[in-house]
Amino acid sequence: MYAGQMSSSPRRRNLLEQRVERILAQSPGQEDPSDLAERVQSVLACVPPEARSLISERTGRSLAEVEAIMESDPSLTADPNARHRVTICTGKTCARRGGAALLRRARQKLEAECFETSSDGAVYLEPFRCFGQCAMAPNIRIDGGVRGAMTGERFELLLDMLRR
Ligand code: FES
Repeated sequence: MYAGQMSSSPRRRNLLEQRVERILAQSPGQEDPSDLAERVQSVLACVPPEARSLISERTGRSLAEVEAIMESDPSLTADPNARHRVTICTGKTCARRGGAALLRRARQKLEAECFETSSDGAVYLEPFRCFGQCAMAPNIRIDGGVRGAMTGERFELLLDMLRR
C-alpha cells in the first residue's frame, strides 16, 4: 500500500498488471482461466504471476485453482524465455534524464512493446520504476547488472551485442 492511501482503496496496479488488464480486456465474456492464460501468453510469451492473480480476480476462481490449471498445462510458462532481460528505469529522475527516450528507442529497435520479447527471442523488454540509484540516471539493467549514465548510442550498441 502506498503512503497516504486509504485502507479501503484498491491497490494501484503496477505497469505489468496494467498491461495484462488491457490484454484481458480484449477477451470480453471469456471466463475460462486456461483460455485467458493462453491469450496472455500469446502476447507476452509467458504468464507472469501478476497475470495469474488478475485471471483469478476476473474469473472468480481462487488463485490456487488458477495456479493448478497453469501447472497442469505444460504449454503455459511463467518465464518469457528470452536470452536476455533488459529493464529500463522509468522512475522520475531517470525518465527526465533520458530514460523515457531510451525506452522509446528500445521499443523501436526491438520492435517489441513493454513486457514483450523481441521476435528473435534475444531480449525481453520491461520498464521499472526506480532501481534506487537515481544519482547515476538514466539507468538500465541488463540481466541483473545496472548500468548508469546511459546514452542512446551506448544503449543501441549494447542491444546489438545482446542480439548477436
Ligand atoms: S529514478 Fe531511476 S534509479 Fe531512481
